[in-house]
Amino acid sequence: MKTLKGFREFYPDPVPSRDAWSFSIRQWLFDTWRNTARQYGFVEYDGAPLEPLELYTQKSGEEIVNQLYNFKDKGDRDVALRPEMTPTLAKLVSQSATQYRKPLKWFSIPQLFRYERNQKGRLREHFQLNADIIGEEDPGADAELISFLIDVLRAVGLRKGDFVIRISSRTAWQDFYQKNGGHPDRSYDFYQAIDKMERVPEEVTSQSLEGTGISIGQVRDFIGRAEPVGDLAAVVDQLTQRGLSDFITVDYRIIRGLAYYTGVVFEAFDCSGKFRAIAGGGRYDNLVNQVSGGKVSMPALGFGMGDVVLTELLKDLGRLPDTAFKPDIYFAIEDESLRPQSLAAIQWFREQGFSVVFPITATKSDRQFKHATELQSTLLVHIDPLNPGQLTFKNLKTREKTTGPREQIHSLS
Ligand code: HAM
Repeated sequence: MKTLKGFREFYPDPVPSRDAWSFSIRQWLFDTWRNTARQYGFVEYDGAPLEPLELYTQKSGEEIVNQLYNFKDKGDRDVALRPEMTPTLAKLVSQSATQYRKPLKWFSIPQLFRYERNQKGRLREHFQLNADIIGEEDPGADAELISFLIDVLRAVGLRKGDFVIRISSRTAWQDFYQKNGGHPDRSYDFYQAIDKMERVPEEVTSQSLEGTGISIGQVRDFIGRAEPVGDLAAVVDQLTQRGLSDFITVDYRIIRGLAYYTGVVFEAFDCSGKFRAIAGGGRYDNLVNQVSGGKVSMPALGFGMGDVVLTELLKDLGRLPDTAFKPDIYFAIEDESLRPQSLAAIQWFREQGFSVVFPITATKSDRQFKHATELQSTLLVHIDPLNPGQLTFKNLKTREKTTGPREQIHSLS
């Protein structure tokens, strides 16, 4: 039976083919995300993977709604697998806002589901680091969030020149739209046209702009000037003060496809331009209010970073670390009469916190040695046949050999 299109399986290392996904790389990525989130004081949460359909139909915008995995459950309720985390987060926050000190700095690593067209870097499920700051309207929060994004990308091994955060502002676009006489009822179409601009020929953008009251020339001019204004200027200043100006650029072509963004927005891209966006986010100051039915109002901002593009990019650059499992000890049993004593020693080593692999059934010595080498075990250990009270320890890298009681392990590791 075949795996569904757009879904992945994660194998232990070494993975069976070049295109197969590695579980240990995924775990390493999650660990790196978590460690960096902690450095910035973000705390972890999770929500439900299945949500009421209306959570998305009203809040996320057309593109995501078209991609929903939705169905009626056995109780005839309309439900959807979560395609993104932000509406869930807004719901959690609106239910518990009074319990926490503001601003909240929360992160999560949900698996998300979108019925996407088959394309490079876009699958039908992915894991996404979400980091959000809630309850702070000062642009200092935007700078903190973007600084975190940069540091996550550096923590996984990317450097200056590998990636860039393209920062923009919906407020700036709104001002532009109003000042230039944009049609009040057509602003949604206008934003959609800007969002798709990079991916379609210019004639298509021109056509989409028809009826909005804005011409392609005006749009091109505004983007060309790339002048940071209002909150965006403050964000750029603060990132510069942090020494991070090499990682950002003001780029008004970014506007974000999702409906709920209100202020500064941004996306992270690889500099080679080979891949789709690595991450994207921005301010969404009205979403908590909408999700709570007007009961709770809180400014908010955040981003999502998927595991797919990031892993593909690191692979392409040859920067994925070696995360394969390597035991501390391969315990060889060369003489079956020594198995009972060997099992006692193996148990002791594990209780001391060492990882131990050994042959479960009688196995030829050369095959045991080969297995220990393949696993890249640090030590090969066995009971000394001439002196069964003693163990022989062999370091498989340095080839150094010593004999002694089991406690000797502590001086070897
Ligand atoms: P998004 O731009 O839809 O934003 O997704 C964020 C990132 O998730 C993308 O840049 C990409 O890395 C990854 N991603 C999205 N869809 C797929 C897919 N089908 N396959 C693989 N990777 C994918 C959001 O989801 C917002 N909710 C982010 C956010 C959080 N905004 C505020 N807080």
